[in-house]
Amino acid sequence: MSEPVTIQFAKHGAALKGVLIVLTDDTLGFGKATQKLLKPASGAIARAMDADRFKGKLGGALDLLAPEKLDTTRVVVLGVGKAAELKDSDYLRLGGIAAGRLPGGTREATIIIDLPGRSLPASAAAEIALGVRLRAYAFDRYKTKRKEGESEPTPLAVILQVADEGLAKRAWIAREAVADGVTLARNLVNEPSNVLDPPEFARRAEELRSVGVEVEVFDDEELARLGMRALLGVGQGSIKESRVVVMRWNGASAKSQPVAFIGKGVTFDTGGISIKPAAGMEDMKGDMGGAACVTGLLYALAARKAKVNAVGVIGCVENMPDGAAQRPGDIVTSMSGQTIEIINTDAEGRLVLADVLWYVKERFKPRFMVDLATLTGAILVALGQEYAGLFSNDDELAGHLAAAGAATGERVWRMPLGPEYDKLIDSRFADMKNTGGRNGGSITAAQFLQRFVDKTPWAHLDVAGTAMGSLSTDINKSWGSGWGVRLLDKLVADYYEG
Ligand code: BES
Ligand code: MN
Ligand code: ZN
Repeated sequence: MSEPVTIQFAKHGAALKGVLIVLTDDTLGFGKATQKLLKPASGAIARAMDADRFKGKLGGALDLLAPEKLDTTRVVVLGVGKAAELKDSDYLRLGGIAAGRLPGGTREATIIIDLPGRSLPASAAAEIALGVRLRAYAFDRYKTKRKEGESEPTPLAVILQVADEGLAKRAWIAREAVADGVTLARNLVNEPSNVLDPPEFARRAEELRSVGVEVEVFDDEELARLGMRALLGVGQGSIKESRVVVMRWNGASAKSQPVAFIGKGVTFDTGGISIKPAAGMEDMKGDMGGAACVTGLLYALAARKAKVNAVGVIGCVENMPDGAAQRPGDIVTSMSGQTIEIINTDAEGRLVLADVLWYVKERFKPRFMVDLATLTGAILVALGQEYAGLFSNDDELAGHLAAAGAATGERVWRMPLGPEYDKLIDSRFADMKNTGGRNGGSITAAQFLQRFVDKTPWAHLDVAGTAMGSLSTDINKSWGSGWGVRLLDKLVADYYEG
């Protein structure tokens, strides 16, 4: 993959390299360091602002080409709006916008982190750098040709000039870990299923050992011994073996109860015998977006040495039709001992999660469990692609997730649970069935999961609308967005660390 951006820091006043990017607010003033720099061209810049009716609004930008008297080919003036109201999420966006303004083939750019009348927090530079990294990501490892006029992938160095280099560098260490975690999650989601099958997913998770994550991998034989018959039933039509991967980051004392994250890792979902229509089925390579997020999150927590004990467990299977595949009407016994009648083999994610949730609850007795799953098409009908669906048995956990969502822009919308919905999945032949009918499809799926969490504080995030086929934003142009890594890193940082 090309993610050829390196982030560097320098002090205000250091030599300029490449495209110059400066910040201004809605007064169209510049900070001291910027003023000094732009002085020889200040008249030209003022005229350009005027000619372009540039008002310094948040996210607005003005390009000046080959400015006379300045030693650069290009100046980008980036508006921040009301400087006093800037939040971390604004800096993040500004970094994305800045990166988006660089013409293809740019090798170097210098961003002056400076605004009139106030000194910026160290986090500002780090958030801008994170935005640059996320925006510059592209998954092009399978492209062997370029279109005409397309510039060749060039390594880009972005230098952030700051008042205090040491502070900014320290802030960046933690944010770089998150950038790398999001990148890992995006790569996993974008990867095709002939490459990323369950065993390969497990191998990629094992690479987290390099940052100090303990990784255990369970194969078919081990999973059978554990009694994960619901999960194994989904994988039994595939020639690929299934895998459950346990990742553990121990950043707090051994006595500290862990937090747990669980991910659906269906590396390809054909629907199985209840096969899906052909149109758009290729998107089902992304049906492991939940597991990708959990893997990226564990990477980020470990790489930034978060003071928390965190467990990440992913259930990786391939859902295929075959002579050996599971049938509608089959009844499987889950690890919990509860039996499940299979009505539709395409409702496979909940079968995978049922066993993994039960396993995590029993083995780790965590403070809470958050699962992420591209679980239902119905969540797209309900919420579109702006919010993930949030289902929870715990108001505090749900509140923390909502707050972290608002702060990071990875937003969640709480949906209902209740006995009226739960009874829709009672089965005539077994303890429950794996679908509850068309109405409230995301809710009955969540009800199903709730039958495997007991009293453990739990939240389920239905990320079918957010993890793949993602909206294009200032910080994301990728099909696989890596959704949830920033959200859950923030959840841990704000409420469960230390
Ligand atoms: N992986 C799909 C859900 C999905 C749909 C994710 C669209 C991303 C985009 C899931 O396994 C599935 O097939 N769900 C069925 C459930 C139904 C059979 C009860 C669905 O949503 O149609
Ligand atoms: Mn399915
Ligand atoms: Zn699925």
